[in-house]
Amino acid sequence: MEKRNELYRGKAKSVFTTDDPDRLILLFRNDTSAFDGKKIEQLERKGMVNNRFNAFIMQKLEEAGVPTQFDRLLSDTECLVKKLDMIPVECVVRNFAAGSLVKRLGVEEGMALTPPTFELFLKDDAKGDPFINASHVFAFGWATPEQLARMEELTRKVNEVLNKLFDDAGLLLVDFKLEFGLFHGEIVLGDEFSPDGCRLWDKETRKKMDKDRFRQGLGGVIEAYEEVAQRLGVPLA
Ligand code: C5P
Repeated sequence: MEKRNELYRGKAKSVFTTDDPDRLILLFRNDTSAFDGKKIEQLERKGMVNNRFNAFIMQKLEEAGVPTQFDRLLSDTECLVKKLDMIPVECVVRNFAAGSLVKRLGVEEGMALTPPTFELFLKDDAKGDPFINASHVFAFGWATPEQLARMEELTRKVNEVLNKLFDDAGLLLVDFKLEFGLFHGEIVLGDEFSPDGCRLWDKETRKKMDKDRFRQGLGGVIEAYEEVAQRLGVPLA
């Protein structure tokens, strides 16, 4: 597999073309950002930890029947993925209240949400990733009703699979964000799953083990990511 040009540089990952028009390389960098890129720092080892974490989770999801873009690991910080036409909509499931939900509705952090909520946000940094609903998705042509229904079905399936996986590791899956794309007409899970894009709390102490440690300046960010990986059995370099 030959790595060619940088196609896109995101806040934490870069995407490269390859000699195969159906495949891209994702490079996980150490850059860590929050508040739509207003806070940025380099965190040693984060690229490796997130790349290996993502590979582990994507393989678990594939085994459970969720189609993902993941193909294989290439190095400590790179993996090969299917080239998707990305849908600019972020799907967020919440099992417990935290983050923007707490701000928006003034509810208490940690309140259990039964059944879990499913929310949509437009992926647009310049606009601050605004909260949207299904009618916006259809009116602006970001996805069809059938495609959005499939995205919700897969997001809820991911929640089921990962709730169990994290629970077995003594962790609460508080919430997470997924992005989808189309591969030869099929809705496929894209982007990444790592502690950068979900909230994980220790089941006993409710200690935060995810990117909120960075957002809230709590310290021990990579130490927490590595502990989560170790509890799940993710092999790290
Ligand atoms: O900020 P908010 O509470 O809406 O975030 C919900 C979940 O989605 C969190 O786990 C957060 O890490 C994730 N998220 C993300 N990327 C964004 C917005 C939210 O990974 N742009």
